[in-house]
Amino acid sequence: QRSAQELIRPQLPAELIERGKCPFDPASGLTELSGHGRIHRIEHNGESVWLVTGHEEARAVLADPRMSSDRINSPRARKLISPELHAKIFPPERQAGSFIFMDAPEHTRYRRLLTGQFTVRRMRDLTPRVHEIVTAQLDAMIEKGPPADLVRDFALPVPSLVICELLGVDYGDREEFQHRTSKLLSLKTTIDEQIEVGTELRKFMLQLVRAKQRDPGDDLLSGLVRDTDLTEFELAGIANLLLIAGHETTANMLALGTFALLEHPGEFAKLREHPELAENAVEELLRYLSIISMGVSRHAKEDAEIGGVTIRKDETVVVSVPAVNRDESQYPDPHELRVDRPRGHHVAFGHGIHQCLGQQLARVEMVVGFTELVRRLPNLKLAVPADEVPLRTDMSIYGVHALPVKW
Ligand code: HEM
Repeated sequence: QRSAQELIRPQLPAELIERGKCPFDPASGLTELSGHGRIHRIEHNGESVWLVTGHEEARAVLADPRMSSDRINSPRARKLISPELHAKIFPPERQAGSFIFMDAPEHTRYRRLLTGQFTVRRMRDLTPRVHEIVTAQLDAMIEKGPPADLVRDFALPVPSLVICELLGVDYGDREEFQHRTSKLLSLKTTIDEQIEVGTELRKFMLQLVRAKQRDPGDDLLSGLVRDTDLTEFELAGIANLLLIAGHETTANMLALGTFALLEHPGEFAKLREHPELAENAVEELLRYLSIISMGVSRHAKEDAEIGGVTIRKDETVVVSVPAVNRDESQYPDPHELRVDRPRGHHVAFGHGIHQCLGQQLARVEMVVGFTELVRRLPNLKLAVPADEVPLRTDMSIYGVHALPVKW
């Protein structure tokens, strides 16, 4: 059976996807391709896709209103499955509130409502809490003693706790959403499994929304319930998107980022000795690691000329985040990790109207997380050979499944 991820994202040949010998570098085919142009026509599995590897071209695609994010209702998705199956996987109540898949002006309405909740003040108020959460996780890990799995004991709980607190989700329910989120993001999950997990998650979110309606708190979801006229399904869809986007991504950055620092001891030492580099280091790790490995995809709503090619109506475009973030016309020695590299414009958070809504929050979590990690565990080491660290090559968000460490 088809994998559910295939419906919203075209398949690319293995050599453009599978990371090679170095777990931090883009697929070898991708690096090779980047040497031969900036936007490429790829034929694979009977499909034809435009693959963007150039920085300027990526920004042009992502800022272009002719490029649609509606991956659910794209001509491609509609062609792959029957209308009956499409309606079963993506019923209207499931699409409600999922603004990552919407175009303007629908998208604009949700984005405005959310920006009103992701206020600078709320993010600033959250910083001391992020500090407390990071400290508590490190205290517990240190007390238990080495070896530890940094994913289980640090990288996953920190963003999960933070997003739970922000949204007003009971952290005790984490089993309910962590497992289902991984299932949703796995490249191997079939359409049938996706329908099942999607339904369960939606039920969980609807219950949560109803609880906030009965008994609102001062969390973000209660704020949306109180201040907007969004329907229950819209609220559940938004909560779902924030919960999923809010913990898996940052968790993988924290874990893969730590792995990368451990494999580059000089950079680890720089960060340890110069904590003021933390913000810079986070931007560099975002660029260097590009955990949105599969890229971000769009389809053309009309013919569009970009980067010297004509993208025809209904054609699919994939912006390869790993390739774009290593564009040598943008970054000198792009394949080097340098925590003191001057800050540039990476596309790890996307670009244009869909640029990551949670980026400020993610930055706070990573700055505090990496700073405290290297401060508290200055002699942190891998507890297994590097080639035994299990890589998330089976997931749409790249990272490590576990990171055994000692100190
Ligand atoms: C959108 C990456 C953390 C919520 C995006 C996009 C990227 C991204 C590349 C653009 C997708 C597109 O254009 O189709 C990341 C990375 C993160 C991170 C690398 C961590 C290091 C977060 C967090 C939250 C969040 C913590 C929530 C609190 C969202 C939402 C969108 C989004 C809601 C959709 C925005 C829209 O469509 O307007 N993210 N993200 N992300 N992200 Fe993040």
